[in-house]
Amino acid sequence: MTAPRPQPPIAMLAELTHRCPLSCPYCSNPLELARQEQELDTETWARVFDEAAGIGVLQLHLSGGEPASRRDLVELVSAARQAGLYTNLITSGIGLTQKRLQALDDAGLDHIQLSLQGTNAEIADEIGGYRGGFARKMQVAQWIGEIGFPLTLNAVLHRRNLHQLPRALEMALEMGARRIEVATVQFHGWALKNRAALMPSRDQARDATRQVAEARLRLKGQLVIDYVPADYHEDYPKRCMGGWGTSGLNITPEGRVLPCHAAESIPHLDFETVRRASLHEIWYESAAFNAYRGTDWMAEPCVSCERKTVDFGGCRCQALALAGDANATDPVCVKSPHHKALQAAAEAFAASTEDTLTYRQMIKAPV
Ligand code: SF4
Ligand code: FES
Repeated sequence: MTAPRPQPPIAMLAELTHRCPLSCPYCSNPLELARQEQELDTETWARVFDEAAGIGVLQLHLSGGEPASRRDLVELVSAARQAGLYTNLITSGIGLTQKRLQALDDAGLDHIQLSLQGTNAEIADEIGGYRGGFARKMQVAQWIGEIGFPLTLNAVLHRRNLHQLPRALEMALEMGARRIEVATVQFHGWALKNRAALMPSRDQARDATRQVAEARLRLKGQLVIDYVPADYHEDYPKRCMGGWGTSGLNITPEGRVLPCHAAESIPHLDFETVRRASLHEIWYESAAFNAYRGTDWMAEPCVSCERKTVDFGGCRCQALALAGDANATDPVCVKSPHHKALQAAAEAFAASTEDTLTYRQMIKAPV
């Protein structure tokens, strides 16, 4: 039987750089970060944006690291708009001046997602590892409002700041945001190093879910709330990236094309680069994109589960990190043989008195 041809991707996340003035301990970037001289140049990104539009991508998310660390950000936005893509900038705000924001508006930037490390300077600057960052972010939020960019606030929550969820919702309203993403930390990349310091308790996680449900009712029509729960405390995994190779792709700063941001953690997969192959070839033909598409790769218990086309077995990167096998059922799932051990570990991390944060930093690759 031949597998049906995949649908075209809808969204592309361009990680323009791994450089970032912040050093958040929950960063999902890989442990080995790309250096500036390895990054794709402006022309290559522009060609990739054209190719993306050519295979059906509609939305382009410009991310990092901190995308504002790229000097050519305005040119990149222009190139993406010329390619006909809807452009969204995902930023901490650091590195954006009023003049630069105006230039981004003139270049056609459609939307901004501003990250929030905490709702006051004390917590935000500690988590971001950047003194004065919160004050600068608030200034940037004001300019964003003055220019009139549609805004989404990205609040990343964990044990140290979950109590700030009500204030984060208020801030979204005050800033005129149309949407807030309330994301409990997902433990990929650097974040894995900080589970003991950041894992929320089960009660905290449930309380957040309750508060989100209540706020969704209360703020209906005013604010859209997207919610990523603390999945170590859940009984079913999330459908990661909407399903592997289903609706979106990520490009790393050096140009490798991934089905999800953590895919490079799966060592037996080879990821093609935009320097050697077209996005069309990579999306439709590459072994890495086809590895976990659909359900043919699944084993028990997923293969005979009624939810297999709901969550596609959860996250492959998390299955590898926690069960030692990228083909395994995501241990978040109650049917996984590793589920009980994961929940016990989550409780132990949550009860830990560890409060030292391991901040994200550039690890120099050996020469
Ligand atoms: Fe999802 Fe697999 Fe768990 Fe079923 S067994 S709920 S498909 S992860
Ligand atoms: Fe890779 Fe979920 S992060 S599949």
